[in-house]
Amino acid sequence: MKQRRILITAALPYANGPIHLGHMVEYIQTDIWARFQRAQGHEAYFIWADDTHGTPIMLHAQKRGITPDQLIAEMAEEHQRDFRDFGLSYDHFGSTNSASNRAIVNDIWANLQAKGHVESHTIEQCYDDEKQMFLPDRFIRGNCPKCAAEDQYGDSCEVCGATYDPTDLVNPVSTLSNTAPVLRKSEHFFVRLADFTDMLQQWMQSPGLQDEVRNKLQEWFADGLRSWDVSRDAPYFGFEIPGQQDKFFYVWLDAPVGYMASFADFCASRPELDFDAWWRPGSDTELYHFVGKDIIYFHALFWPAVLHGGGYRIPTAVFAHGFLTVNGAKMSKSRGTFIMARTYLNHLHADYLRYYFAARLGNGLGDIDLQLDDFRQRVNADLIGKLINIASRCAGFIHKLNDGVLGPVLPDQQLYQQFLDQQQAIAADFEQRNYQAAVRKVMALADQANQYLAEKAPWQLAKQPDQVPAAIAVCTQGLNLFRLLITWLAPVLPDTATRAFAFLNLHDTQPTRWSGLAEPLLNHRIHAYEPLLQRIEESQIAAIIEDSRASLEGSASASNNAGNNTETTATPVDSMHSSETSTSISIDDFLKVELRVARIVQAEAVAGADKLLRLELDLGDQQRQVFAGIKSAYTPEQLQGRLTVMVVNLAPRKMRFGVSEGMVLAAGEPDDGGPFLLSPDSGAQPGQRVR
Ligand code: 2FM
Ligand code: ZN
Repeated sequence: MKQRRILITAALPYANGPIHLGHMVEYIQTDIWARFQRAQGHEAYFIWADDTHGTPIMLHAQKRGITPDQLIAEMAEEHQRDFRDFGLSYDHFGSTNSASNRAIVNDIWANLQAKGHVESHTIEQCYDDEKQMFLPDRFIRGNCPKCAAEDQYGDSCEVCGATYDPTDLVNPVSTLSNTAPVLRKSEHFFVRLADFTDMLQQWMQSPGLQDEVRNKLQEWFADGLRSWDVSRDAPYFGFEIPGQQDKFFYVWLDAPVGYMASFADFCASRPELDFDAWWRPGSDTELYHFVGKDIIYFHALFWPAVLHGGGYRIPTAVFAHGFLTVNGAKMSKSRGTFIMARTYLNHLHADYLRYYFAARLGNGLGDIDLQLDDFRQRVNADLIGKLINIASRCAGFIHKLNDGVLGPVLPDQQLYQQFLDQQQAIAADFEQRNYQAAVRKVMALADQANQYLAEKAPWQLAKQPDQVPAAIAVCTQGLNLFRLLITWLAPVLPDTATRAFAFLNLHDTQPTRWSGLAEPLLNHRIHAYEPLLQRIEESQIAAIIEDSRASLEGSASASNNAGNNTETTATPVDSMHSSETSTSISIDDFLKVELRVARIVQAEAVAGADKLLRLELDLGDQQRQVFAGIKSAYTPEQLQGRLTVMVVNLAPRKMRFGVSEGMVLAAGEPDDGGPFLLSPDSGAQPGQRVR
């Protein structure tokens, strides 16, 4: 088989917030593909980086009183910690805020200009006089010009779905200063996309493209390709446009160039790799971008145009996927289904989620659902009940009966061959990113292997001295079948597979390579079997939901796709959420919650926290500190002296800003006008028990 050279990317996570399970769909999808390609013996690199520029990052850093560089350094570390713990095997993780990225962006820009693909116009945009900056669409809110719905974003209406220009909004307000924006003129630079129509139309025929992507492109062509505004005015966190004053490249211009820059940095550590051989026109390497369906526009339209006009090769294909829902609905903070990557990892092994996503992922743009109960049951049934079971049923007998050495022959060579015959079809499924089909095939074989063991019953054979060789033979067969299955699933279950390979004593070979599987393991010493995975308990799922409900300040972006370039909306934390699903509890359970009247003696903003106020609460006999997510609804002054109701016997929570020693009760959420702090009628005294 010809060795292919493949460069693979996942969308670059925006360095403005932490990773949640919505992001993980794409990253796991990408990683499985990269691991699969390596397992075929191809030269495959998964190249990645953080996406670090733009207004949201600039403002986020400002709010926290740190520099954007500090913010993105912090995020880079946090992101990569999550990624490593999810078993993501990227070869290099760079940053779009790098010298290499600046150099390539400038080079592309110079080429675009030299070839006449850049035009400039003076345009009029919303400007915040108080903050002295132009406002991105998402920082302007007002009434929808179509349906008059209140408080809509500057680019689209969430009520009627209309899209428009921010200047069309009725009664627009800057979300930064709450003042009405004014119109101001400035010169902008545009890439003339229409210049690339022919090239894009040809590219659209690439065999690897999904039909859905092709159709989208078709729609855009039909609308006519408008020139793309790639400049932004200062203040902006990004790269300055060479030769211009106070003009910067728009983050979406330099973000995908980050794929190249990260690869360039990777090449610097790998002298055998030649950047140009991968990125110049005529390259015989393959280039694939995995992206969410919301950013197809940037990757299938702008990006090939910029690459082509900039003097570089275009992608082989862009692979788009859908979004994640949890329990059939959009991830929800109040339901505890807005799950951060770290929250998940605090309770469960990464391979479980990798398996579940793989079992649900096809190669279309449909959304995938993480049904938590189904997740637990499916992992337990498939991985523990079927896959791992094969190894655990056989290993002990090999040790007990044959000193840990596999037998000299396979008793059922035909069955082994029957399994092997499926390898090509499984590979084709992985290649086409139809992981659910691959998983289905492997699990059907796992069923067959278990059936074989049940029929041969080595545990019965082992009891009869004259049947011991037969028992060894059956277990040798079982373990060889297990080895096939775990090797095929290794792209999905990398950590479990690594430990399985160690158990099978396959350290010195390249155990993940599929080409080595024709040769069974015979007369081969194995190591003691340690349980490879444990069952998922209901309590672990409950704990994830519980922790997600209590998720901390600054923890989330509101969208559940692979990040976005909009401002993050963090959830209020210690306010009581109205619960959509109510479970009955006994009166005894309820009485365990100790509620008392408390007086807020002090309230203040918390540096670096958008939503929190620090409250000092007087309970009559003691004072407590609580961080409450109610800043959007109250100024500290409004709260001072006020009575409220507090949960006093909640375990103290260590937060980034200090320890929260309880919780105050509030109703509602910012999007329904809340939070509304609960208060007793006047006359109540601090310290009184609330029942
Ligand atoms: O949508 C996003 O989250 C972007 N940060 C993705 C960028 S992908 C690439 F262009 F860098
Ligand atoms: Zn509307």
